[in-house]
Amino acid sequence: MGGIYIHIPYCRQKCSYCNFHFSTNVTDTGRMSDSLIKEVSLRSDELRLLDIETIYFGGGTPSIFAPEEMQRLIKEIGRIIALNKVKEVTIECNPDDLTLDYLHSLYNDSCINRLSVGIQSFFDDDLEMMNRTHSGRDSIDCLENIFKTGFDNVTADLIFGLPDNDSQKWERNLKKLIEFPVEHISCYGLTVEPKTQLEYDISRGKVPVPDDGIALDQFYFTEEYLTPRGFVHYEISNYAKPGKIAIHNTNYWRQEKYVGIGPSAHSFDGFRRRWNIANNASYMKKINNEEKFWEEEYLSEADMYNEWIMTGLRTIWGIDPKQIKKFTSSIQDEFFIAKENAVKKGRIAETEDRMFLTRRGKGIADSVISDFFFVR
Ligand SMILES: C[S@@+](CC[C@H](N)C(=O)[O-])C[C@H]1O[C@@H](n2cnc3c(N)ncnc32)[C@H](O)[C@@H]1O
Ligand code: SF4
Repeated sequence: MGGIYIHIPYCRQKCSYCNFHFSTNVTDTGRMSDSLIKEVSLRSDELRLLDIETIYFGGGTPSIFAPEEMQRLIKEIGRIIALNKVKEVTIECNPDDLTLDYLHSLYNDSCINRLSVGIQSFFDDDLEMMNRTHSGRDSIDCLENIFKTGFDNVTADLIFGLPDNDSQKWERNLKKLIEFPVEHISCYGLTVEPKTQLEYDISRGKVPVPDDGIALDQFYFTEEYLTPRGFVHYEISNYAKPGKIAIHNTNYWRQEKYVGIGPSAHSFDGFRRRWNIANNASYMKKINNEEKFWEEEYLSEADMYNEWIMTGLRTIWGIDPKQIKKFTSSIQDEFFIAKENAVKKGRIAETEDRMFLTRRGKGIADSVISDFFFVR
């Protein structure tokens, strides 16, 4: 099993909190699209080796590309792999791009069968603080249009832990979202990333410091709110109706292989991580000249172990502790010490073939997971 990730490195403007790779200069999207197609063909041997079951257009903002561009890319992929075996084709979208015309064209003329919409909040003051391009009303109109068009596999992103520390607004965001028949919801805790506008705004007092305790309350509230309403909390940040988990992302957490196309995209073949150059102009130049456009590293045994812990423990399925036998004795020792400690503190629960985060552990998942890391 494997997936293809295609990075569309453009956004209409820079959200205050975001440090993903993108450019707001959208004048060269045609050339970029040609370069992405060329990378797909340059990597056709790698793609043929994988049993591709998902394609994911992520960003940046893939909905900046016209549906025809998306279809052109999918068609190119279809020259290399059997598209009829692909189960899920997702596109990340911003609400203000999804006009009815755009949605109809996406629905009728492309193979895309799953939409991921970046709502973040329905409140205009939040959206302004985040420097989003859309209003709360735009998001509501866009969700109405999506379901009018006929899409039936829709996920939406919301962000909690915002600087105004207002948990009532968080509840109202969840309530509003599930008025629509979304099958999947990603709820991300706001991270104040270094060198972002948000960090600067907080440092000079323009935006209040988000309160970690309130963010944690909102994290727990989310599970309490969404679970009785039919959503399964299957990964720290992700909730799905039964049968609607994100196949592409779940394959990352199961350490399946994937090929990442586009500037800054990462790839993994089971042993090696590869990351493409994170600069649009250099990426296109190197692709066109058929020069090396990536760097790579082979994972050490410690890297493999850390990845196994990090990806597995984030999910409801957890990890099978018997698999620790694959690793050397020093790693095994570290694992058993960390496990005993975490179980004693009520952060991890275990059965014979599974160990997973408890409710308490989920709230401090990053710290529980890093306690397991092997760092020598
Ligand atoms: C990188 S964006 C790409 C999708 C699309 N451009 C959008 O904004 O909706 C994917 C998601 O990451 C989340 N995200 C990005 N930076 C974040 C941060 N610093 N803290 C929390 N969530 C973040 C947002 O919820 C966003 O929807
Ligand atoms: S959150 Fe999405 S739209 Fe905003 S800058 Fe990041 S990638 Fe672009």
